[in-house]
Amino acid sequence: MAQGDRRPSISGFSGGETPVRAAEVVGAMSIATDLGTGQPLEHALRTAILAVRLGELAELSPSDLVDAYYISLLHSFGCTSDATEQTELFGDDIEPRAKFALVDGGNPDEVTAFLRDVVGQGRPPEVRQAMVAHALENALDIARSTFALHCEVAQRFAGWLGFGPGVISNLAYAFERWDGNGFPGAAAGEAIALPARVLHVARDISVFLSAGGPDRARKVIEQRAGGAYDPRLAALAADHFAELLDGLDDALIWEQAMAAEPPPQRWMTGEEIDAAFRVVGTFTDLKSYWLRGHAEGTSQLAEAAAWRLGLPEAEVSTVRRAALALDLGRVAVSNAIWEKPGPFGLTDWERVQLHPYFTERSFAHSPELAPIGELASAHHERLDGAGYHRKTPGPGLGRAARILAAADSYQAMRERRPHRPGLDAAAAESELLGDARSGRLCPEAVDAVLAAAGHRVAKRPRELPAGLTDREHEVLLALAAGKTNKAIADELGISVKTTGNHIQHIFEKTGVRTRSAATVWAFERHLVQSA
Ligand SMILES: [Fe+2]
Repeated sequence: MAQGDRRPSISGFSGGETPVRAAEVVGAMSIATDLGTGQPLEHALRTAILAVRLGELAELSPSDLVDAYYISLLHSFGCTSDATEQTELFGDDIEPRAKFALVDGGNPDEVTAFLRDVVGQGRPPEVRQAMVAHALENALDIARSTFALHCEVAQRFAGWLGFGPGVISNLAYAFERWDGNGFPGAAAGEAIALPARVLHVARDISVFLSAGGPDRARKVIEQRAGGAYDPRLAALAADHFAELLDGLDDALIWEQAMAAEPPPQRWMTGEEIDAAFRVVGTFTDLKSYWLRGHAEGTSQLAEAAAWRLGLPEAEVSTVRRAALALDLGRVAVSNAIWEKPGPFGLTDWERVQLHPYFTERSFAHSPELAPIGELASAHHERLDGAGYHRKTPGPGLGRAARILAAADSYQAMRERRPHRPGLDAAAAESELLGDARSGRLCPEAVDAVLAAAGHRVAKRPRELPAGLTDREHEVLLALAAGKTNKAIADELGISVKTTGNHIQHIFEKTGVRTRSAATVWAFERHLVQSA
């Protein structure tokens, strides 16, 4: 990972692509982890700012300060990896996490009340009673194994992201406590690395700022000092509370969190960015057993289809990364919905249709990542305008979006879902071709995806609307690009007079009378994008 306060030179990078700040990549994912853990979207970003401020007060070394910043953004990366198991236990995987964030794990009464509140939600009373009894009896073992899993997954992702041993080792302590009653319960006191002890205080200030305001947050830090927190750090935070919160603005929290990164800034390039998007895809797929491999499979199909259709290298990279990221917003929707064996109800369906929106919003704050998020968020759109979440019709969907839609659709059909078996290759091919025929998916993208998946694809007879000839289509494309008759003639190697004749024929066949109207007609029929 490149380091330095200025954007590194792009020479030598594949395709001359723009480097991306590691803080932006991790910050975007932290928004998704907040969505998946029921926290306000400011939470992880605000925790990072508070950790740096508290770390400076505590005179952390420069490297510890960097670790405190990054573990604040990364600490929940493993928290959605057991969403299936959490849903079985609690009936939901998001709201109980938000409730547990408020619980003092060292207070048996609070832990018991929490378990009685959330375990077995939605089950018949006798089943629920048995589940609560089991949970109370085994709470410690369950919590230890749960948080050990969360830490290990976050540590592995940190490694994929190129972080060093400082960040990785600190993540092991993300849920420990000063008094040794944390999870997985492997360390206490000063055996817990200092950046992780800073995280514990900063994270709870952020949680309780949202849950109860500054006074409540300060009180919690004071009350739990020496229990949950290093007493020296808790006292520093309490004594400098106003200073820690000074100028924090939820509306500007992204900018403030990016500005808070301790120097030197870290940058990602080329394969590092690809590795980061593999983290995004794997993080997403871990949300449910049913999704394992979906992101990677979709990405391979989409990338192969993009090369096949001749997209430029830079756009192929965007397609590959967008395919890995397309379902990131799934973490914002409960597995109680994703894993339902029956059909979706109205509420379920409305939530499901929001997942591309959440994908887009996770990346929206980073200028470098926003275009990838925007493309990824179009993967359920359809040419006939019947997709979601924007219902963008064909003219608004470029080739990359069409490829993504076809690849995601094919890959999903091959996979099992709670309400249906996976389709075999022939059945998935038939479904995809049907969607091309009915005008939902782009025939060209469907063919490219099917070819990428190993199907034999018959060459489609070229059917241009209104009886246009291939030459008239070429002239129409040049018209749509705003070219003069002379420029069109030169480009196509024909005379100006012949060009004029072709334009006249286009007008007659399409029923339009002006060049601008012909351009609009071409867009209406997707002739421009599919050229
Ligand atoms: Fe999706």
